[in-house]
Amino acid sequence: MMIFIMTDSIKYILEESKAPKTWYNINSDLPSPPPPPLHPGTKQPAGPDDFAPLFPMGLIMQEVSTEREIEIPEPVREIYKQWRPSPLFRARRLEKYLDTPAKIYYKYEGVSPTGSHKPNTAVPQAFFNKEEGVKKIFTETGAGQWGSSLAFAGQMFGIDIEVFMVKVSFEQKPYRKLMMQSFGGTCHPSPSDLTDFGKKLLSEDPNNPGSLGIAISEAIEAVVKSEGKAKYALGSVLGHVLLHQTINGNEAILQMEQAGDYPDIIVGCTGGGSNLAGLMFPFLGQQLRGGQKIDIIGCEPLSCPSFTKGKYAYDHGDMARMTPLIKMHTLGSDFLPPANHSGGLRYHGMSYHLSHLYDLGLMRAKAYGQKDCFEAGVIFGKQEGIIPAPEGNHAVKGAIDAALECKEKGESKTILFNLCGHGHFDMTAYDDYFSGKLADDFYDESSANQSLSKLPEIA
Ligand SMILES: Cc1ncc(COP(=O)(O)O)c(C=O)c1O
Repeated sequence: MMIFIMTDSIKYILEESKAPKTWYNINSDLPSPPPPPLHPGTKQPAGPDDFAPLFPMGLIMQEVSTEREIEIPEPVREIYKQWRPSPLFRARRLEKYLDTPAKIYYKYEGVSPTGSHKPNTAVPQAFFNKEEGVKKIFTETGAGQWGSSLAFAGQMFGIDIEVFMVKVSFEQKPYRKLMMQSFGGTCHPSPSDLTDFGKKLLSEDPNNPGSLGIAISEAIEAVVKSEGKAKYALGSVLGHVLLHQTINGNEAILQMEQAGDYPDIIVGCTGGGSNLAGLMFPFLGQQLRGGQKIDIIGCEPLSCPSFTKGKYAYDHGDMARMTPLIKMHTLGSDFLPPANHSGGLRYHGMSYHLSHLYDLGLMRAKAYGQKDCFEAGVIFGKQEGIIPAPEGNHAVKGAIDAALECKEKGESKTILFNLCGHGHFDMTAYDDYFSGKLADDFYDESSANQSLSKLPEIA
């Protein structure tokens, strides 16, 4: 006779043979499409040809597709197998420590080759470039996670990768540069003297700490100067990036089934929006098709609060104003976030999909200070044995807050959060936290207002 035993599992592991073979496209289920990107010159909706100098057509067509399931090419699935499916954990020790009736699950993306969710899109981006004969890609990176992921993916497909890394992070995380080098990539601190825009900024301020908006401008300038020989790749914000990340949410749906549970709340940190989107889009798709309503929470830094303090407006993705205009929650493309330790969250803008969902009331956001986030990360590490990336600490903080709210209200909700990466390359940030050197958060409202006053005018 079979005896049914209540599971007390910690890890829910999907076999490789059960790995999802498709990505989920949120465009198929949205109640209304997000406002289209505009050409920076004509300010008219940008068509596929406008993006062609930067991206291969395979990726551009994904950006505009409305098909619900998009097949993951076989060579990409083969490389995904190096670390995917990633585990879903039930944080039983953390639940006990918090003494909460809530159930806490986290999807752990730190098992990837570079320690975060970024290879989920780096691999397909390199694949679609390779398909169209591209031999070189320029990109930017904040914390170095994206740059090292693209260097890894470039190595898989024989593409040369050159990365502009935000200077303050380049100095905070020297090992990321070496990781890029180990995977065959090249990395420069940005602003650099390799581009006209970088030279101009350095002549105005040799100590410019850099920003993602500046590094994007340098990478795009390098592509333009390559005269068609190189393409550009972006690690977040755009629709095709978010699409690739949905491999994580598609796996999580199957793993939550294994656990016999379903999330009431989904939490993720938000820089450009891709790791939160990757986890929650497939669940939100179910909700939009008549399924259970989920409380979706994006967690951002107090010092760069594009959701909670930004304006929903058309803006450029970069400081030199070369990218198409995207309607997004923005602090203005000139906004220079202070040098806190969450390099991946220091971006003036936000994914246009998440901005649209926020505007429709289908998700909400919270801004947290970095000390509170490190405190949450250390509590989590002590209980669960994983030291999160500083960016991921924002999601940990959001999940702990939600669990404590459940405790206060006596509710046993199910919380699922994305632990987007480990912090093994970020121990100097933890050192600053332990030794009391972590700076207080500062949101420079007047500089954001100044930057917002220069938003492009759209008729
Ligand atoms: C570890 C980590 N988490 C989160 C992010 C933020 O990006 P996104 O919001 O696209 O996931 C980054 C970006 O570099 C990152 O490196």
